[in-house]
Amino acid sequence: MSAPRRDRIGGVPPLALALAAQLVAAAPVFGAGLALAAATGATVPLPGLLALQGAAAALLGMRFGLAWWWAPIQLLLPAAVAAGLWLPVPAWVYLAAFLGLLLVFWNSAGDRVPLYLTNRKTWAELARLLPEKGSFGFIDLGSGLGGTLANLARRRPDGRFTGIETAPVPYALSKLRLSGLSNASLRWGDIWDEDLSRYDVVYCFLSPVPMPALYRKARAEMRPGTLFVSNSFAVPGSPADSLVKVDDGGRTRLHIWRM
Ligand SMILES: C[S@@+](CC[C@H](N)C(=O)[O-])C[C@H]1O[C@@H](n2cnc3c(N)ncnc32)[C@H](O)[C@@H]1O
Repeated sequence: MSAPRRDRIGGVPPLALALAAQLVAAAPVFGAGLALAAATGATVPLPGLLALQGAAAALLGMRFGLAWWWAPIQLLLPAAVAAGLWLPVPAWVYLAAFLGLLLVFWNSAGDRVPLYLTNRKTWAELARLLPEKGSFGFIDLGSGLGGTLANLARRRPDGRFTGIETAPVPYALSKLRLSGLSNASLRWGDIWDEDLSRYDVVYCFLSPVPMPALYRKARAEMRPGTLFVSNSFAVPGSPADSLVKVDDGGRTRLHIWRM
């Protein structure tokens, strides 16, 4: 079973779709602006046209299947590009933007795992996989913004929910998000150093790159009868014991192995 490329939609990388949405949005917006100027002499100010382009691109991006968090990026992109071209932006702004992105996408280079998030429908499917009775341990390996942990911890006060994360901004934000939940905790740490024998359900949503090694680690450490669950990414040569198709337009599959 080959791993679906979660970083592509219909074979096209999301960045390419986002740029295509901008181009498709720019043509009618600027075309209408020029037509209006030719017909009435009235000109729409450039910031207005850029805002319209951004809004149209955000809507188009959603139609193209981009994740929700692309919408604010799409909205601001035309104005940001125009500002970069025409305003005397000091060099430190670019450096700060680079550092900001680095602190969010910390693991993109090493483990080749960017930040994308488990959706609500998948949270509901995960909740169905949790042990029905008794206290149990669940870990989200690379817990991102903590949404999966917060949702499951609220649904199941009888479980212990742990996250582990090394990207600084996601770590800080999810630390705040989980602060009011007594049955959820977050640790700063590398997933490869975590002892998986402590958990009844180990969940990950990473990328194809770490899956073979992570599966070997799970097999070596997890107790018999416990569950290893990978969102979207299969393990070549080790098919899952079961597959859950999430009702989210066919985008998500949970690969589940019983140890
Ligand atoms: C695709 S996101 C998934 C976030 C979250 N689990 C969810 O489903 O919403 C993967 C996360 O794993 C983190 N990550 C990747 N490699 C890691 C590692 N070796 N140790 C700790 N976290 C890691 C990334 O920083 C990123 O936040």
